[in-house]
Amino acid sequence: MDVAALRADTPGCETVVHFNNAGSSLPPRPVVEAQTSWIAEEARLGGYEMAERHQTRIEGVYGSIARMIGAEPGEIALLESATVAWWQAFHSLDLHGKTILTSEVDYGSNFVAYLQAARRTGSRVEVVPSDASGQIAVDELERRIDDSVGLIAVTHMPTNGGLINPADEIGAVARAAGVPFLLDACQTVGQIPIDVEALGCDFLSATGRKYLRGPRGTGFLYVSRRRLESSEPALLDAHGATMHGSDDFHVRPDARRFEMFEASYAARAALGTAVDYARAVGLEAIGDRIAGLASTLRSRLGERGARIHDLGARRGGIVTFTMDGVDARNVKHRLGARSINVSVVRPSSTPVDSERRDLPEMVRASVHYYNTEEEIDLLVSSLAEDVRKR
Ligand SMILES: Cc1ncc(COP(=O)(O)O)c(C=O)c1O
Repeated sequence: MDVAALRADTPGCETVVHFNNAGSSLPPRPVVEAQTSWIAEEARLGGYEMAERHQTRIEGVYGSIARMIGAEPGEIALLESATVAWWQAFHSLDLHGKTILTSEVDYGSNFVAYLQAARRTGSRVEVVPSDASGQIAVDELERRIDDSVGLIAVTHMPTNGGLINPADEIGAVARAAGVPFLLDACQTVGQIPIDVEALGCDFLSATGRKYLRGPRGTGFLYVSRRRLESSEPALLDAHGATMHGSDDFHVRPDARRFEMFEASYAARAALGTAVDYARAVGLEAIGDRIAGLASTLRSRLGERGARIHDLGARRGGIVTFTMDGVDARNVKHRLGARSINVSVVRPSSTPVDSERRDLPEMVRASVHYYNTEEEIDLLVSSLAEDVRKR
């Protein structure tokens, strides 16, 4: 990977040391240009006219995403965030009286939805414990399968650490049991190779702005062909369905039934560019470089006395840590003053894991392939200096 060239293609690398890639990464120049040039041309042509003129390009975005994850274009819906994508899948399922099996590290918003479903429909959420490495205990998941299970919903990589859950093993259990499997891949799409067939998921939700380096306000949902027919979105407009006369409607046959009519076409076009960019760099190489940099960062932080909180037998680019006696927000603020971007993860982002491990607010430094060892040195030495100064 030509890191120097990739950095030269990233305007943000000139101004910040960016370790907030799990929040929102720095887009490469072609992504910025795709979005801004779309807006400029749209202003001259008219919004609908622009979308019509470049219909093939927008169609291509579905194809690009599909190729990246081993799906068909008809299995992709473009949405405005990972949360909306996840909601559309979750709320399409009839979970009345059913059990939802999930992981300890699931995202806070997912838990809100589980609990809301429990209140509304009498479903039950059961958290499958983790094994000694911190990943979901797949044998325990398997043991809990019975007729009451209506959904397995698991976060591939949590917002609060490097763990990557064994989605393929979860998928094998789900398929054998005939239970729908919803994978929250918000932090892994763009970071590691994803193949929905190998993972055996029925639904996969993702965002554009994190590891894919796409624009904010973008996301997508994958719905497998085998689930499409039985999945009716809870929210349907006249794009997702067609009126037949005035008293009947037909739902679209493809995954676009999960979309709404209105969207930012500029953002969609730029999302397509981001996906093509990631594929050109190579997801295998991206995954290897991110894992390598994150591992270096963990060791360097550990040497300086930081407490690392990441779990998992397999780990990716998210590194969470605390410094004894130093508030995480203070660390973020001090690094920010040096143009080094990190974020703070709150316990409520991963409520079950935080409760179980009694986690405080933690500093999250999430690496991308365009980060360098020199930037890691700078982060670690700045931290050490700030701690000394206190
Ligand atoms: C694991 C996980 N799932 C879902 C989300 C929500 O993504 P979005 O903000 O795009 O809706 C996040 C965001 O940080 C996340 O880390």
